[in-house]
Amino acid sequence: MTYARICEILMDAGIENADFEAALMINFFCGKSRAEVLAFPDADYSDKKLFEAIDKRCERYPLQYIFGEWYFYGETYTVNENCLIPRPDTELLVEYAIKNLPHKARFADLCTGSGCIAVSTLVHRPDTTAVGLDLFPKTAELAVHNAERNGVSERFEAVCSDLLGENPFKENEFDAIISNPPYIRTSVVDTLEEELFSEPRAALDGGEDGLVFYKKILSDYTGSLKNEGFILFEIGYDQKKDIAELADFYGFGCEVQKDLSGNPRMTILKKKH
Ligand SMILES: C[S@@+](CC[C@H](N)C(=O)[O-])C[C@H]1O[C@@H](n2cnc3c(N)ncnc32)[C@H](O)[C@@H]1O
Repeated sequence: MTYARICEILMDAGIENADFEAALMINFFCGKSRAEVLAFPDADYSDKKLFEAIDKRCERYPLQYIFGEWYFYGETYTVNENCLIPRPDTELLVEYAIKNLPHKARFADLCTGSGCIAVSTLVHRPDTTAVGLDLFPKTAELAVHNAERNGVSERFEAVCSDLLGENPFKENEFDAIISNPPYIRTSVVDTLEEELFSEPRAALDGGEDGLVFYKKILSDYTGSLKNEGFILFEIGYDQKKDIAELADFYGFGCEVQKDLSGNPRMTILKKKH
């Protein structure tokens, strides 16, 4: 099958970046670079796994799960249906953490999923240690696997615990609490694009007002944060005001940073003194 034919099949199935994805698939399954693919337009790619992947993708199954791995902040992560696919917007949190964590910091990554926030931060800050918390044993195991895959397992531990239950951490244990929790309002979750149906619903659903996890972290986990520490939240594009109000209520100042599309995406919370 030629590159052009693969593009056509994906396009007919409604895949937005069909040519980009076709090249990625050929690269993944046949080992040909994008440059090679474009230079030899009549080349025939007849790989059984490639054909199966095209079929799956046409059913709107995410490319990242088909590959079983994805890229985040320069690292490669094993991904499967037990975790949210790491998103580029989340790299904002990692960038801030890398620049601002104090020397030898210990931090928590609450709702760790694939472990991408903690692991990429640990990779680029070899003086730090982290604990990642997730509700599901298979997700916590995946985070541990990703820490091993990226060479930071000695500085990472995973805790399997319900964030909405009791805080399992010690007083003043952390220099930072970082979290990309589920933050989509329950009523909105079912209206999202088809690809998102393959991702764990529990990774998306932030309760009736989308704020359940932020409220719980601010009410029950801030005792584990040192006085000079900071909290980083990834937030929904329309949650800036809600988070600023919550932060104020719990005695924190709140700074907001935008993502590459210009939407509010990250809040930095610090205790008011
Ligand atoms: C939005 S995903 C974020 C994953 C990862 N941190 C990232 O940025 O790609 C939220 C994560 O929260 C976890 N989660 C959902 N409910 C939870 C709960 N009650 N306690 C702990 N973790 C929970 C999900 O399993 C999922 O891995």
